[in-house]
Amino acid sequence: MYGNISTLKRLYLTTQNMKFTYYGHACFGLETGGKKLLFDPFISHNSLAKHIDINSLDPDYILLSHGHGDHVADLFAIQKNSGAKVIAIADIAGWLEGKGIPDAHGMNIGGGFIFDFGRVKMVNAIHSSSLPDGSYGGNPAGFVINAEGKKIYYAGDTALHYDMKLLADENLDWAILPIGDNYTMGADDAIKAAGFVNCKNVIGVHYDTFPPIRIDKAETLSKFEKAGLNLQLIPIGESIGL
Ligand code: NI
Ligand code: MN
Repeated sequence: MYGNISTLKRLYLTTQNMKFTYYGHACFGLETGGKKLLFDPFISHNSLAKHIDINSLDPDYILLSHGHGDHVADLFAIQKNSGAKVIAIADIAGWLEGKGIPDAHGMNIGGGFIFDFGRVKMVNAIHSSSLPDGSYGGNPAGFVINAEGKKIYYAGDTALHYDMKLLADENLDWAILPIGDNYTMGADDAIKAAGFVNCKNVIGVHYDTFPPIRIDKAETLSKFEKAGLNLQLIPIGESIGL
């Protein structure tokens, strides 16, 4: 299964350092470096995630890929409970200032910053991004997270695009990709995306939440397997070690 000794050694040395928990849609947690990161909080309006209590979440950081409601709906409640630092594109960080979150960390596409858990780089995504009140949300984004010797790509909501090829030599350990189609790329393009970013381990997100993005899980898993990729579709509320 694993190509060579150095890959094996890397897996052995870094096993279980990072914990991924799926909260449904494109919302997930990463625990790394003793810190809890929460991405794109959308839980209380997701009928598939009724068993998740947002009050039980206590992130240190909340990362937003863009401003759409299905990525920010629970932001204010969770941020208020936890006091989490929000990381988002500068336009959204500026909008948050007027909404009672004055100290969000604004970034922009192509920029990276070292936080106390590791480095975050904001990368391109092709999508749209307006905020729930109609405000301009800047460009949509993805993230490359580099922490505890692991490198994770979260594509955000996006079409397949050629800029993904810029990540091909990054030695990514995991790619977190939307697979639901309609609003983002679907499974066939996500398989191409995994090739573009040169990463065999994929976690699928942004599927099943709404009727236009319902998928056939068995068919999707089989497509990825035929392409030589390890696709994980994690039940909502469950965790895996990356
Ligand atoms: Ni979106
Ligand atoms: Mn979305």
